[in-house]
Amino acid sequence: MTLPDRLLRALCPDARITVLTGAGVSAASGVPTFRGPGGLWRNVRPEELATPAAFARDPRLVWEWYDWRRQKVAACHPNPAHDVIAAWSRRFPRFTLVTQNVDGLHERAGTRHVLRMHGSLWDVGCWNACRAAPRRWRDDTVPFAALPPPCPHCGRPLRPGVVWFGEALDEDILQHCLDAADCDVFFTAGTSSVVYPAAGLLDVARRHGALTVEINPDDTPSSAGIDVRLATGAEIAFVEIERAIAQR
Ligand code: OAD
Repeated sequence: MTLPDRLLRALCPDARITVLTGAGVSAASGVPTFRGPGGLWRNVRPEELATPAAFARDPRLVWEWYDWRRQKVAACHPNPAHDVIAAWSRRFPRFTLVTQNVDGLHERAGTRHVLRMHGSLWDVGCWNACRAAPRRWRDDTVPFAALPPPCPHCGRPLRPGVVWFGEALDEDILQHCLDAADCDVFFTAGTSSVVYPAAGLLDVARRHGALTVEINPDDTPSSAGIDVRLATGAEIAFVEIERAIAQR
């Protein structure tokens, strides 16, 4: 893979670097992507399961999907892409990771200051938002004894602590993500770039004059206008960039 000089030059020690990740970054860890092979669960599309309406209709079915994902992810480990991103978060003082991933692998790799746009697979909340319960809390039980698991405060169903289609993102997190898009180098890695507002961060970065980089073996709606297109797996591209930085 040839890395353009302007990318390596831009990745200087005081550069403001922002990396946006999607499910493809965890693919090499064995976590199925949403829209790729193996992503379909019982032939149901994520847009039909990851919604408040789907949960209201059939909370057990939705929990079966999340419990399946939790079991899969619990058996996976961070891959070299997670490791390089974690190293950058410690080495570059002005580095931000924005992730759409809910699997927690960036945190397990040791990444600092992760902005999680879509929540966490390992968080839960009371579906009825009972007053005794906090809005979200961590519960990494795998698998749950009963589905849907009951709220320990009111006994009614718990919901997964992720952001569903049709739900608003946390306003503070979204603002931090928009702030992070004001950067010198913006990477979009392992995402199909079809889910907003995450997919829109690239345009914000471009408007701020960032060098834009896409890492994805397949083309996406973002590919056409990108400055540097690396058509390979994230677990390869990040390692190659890291090696090139180390050698300069
Ligand atoms: P998708 O499943 O839509 O897209 C995964 C992307 O990763 C595809 O473009 C693949 O080509 C690419 N890919 C596959 N293997 C890769 C590899 N080894 N390295 C780099 N890229 C690779 O996943 P997202 O874009 O993350 O939302 O999906 C966005 C959101 O839609 C998710 O956060 C989730 C989902 O519904 C919610 O849960 C709210």
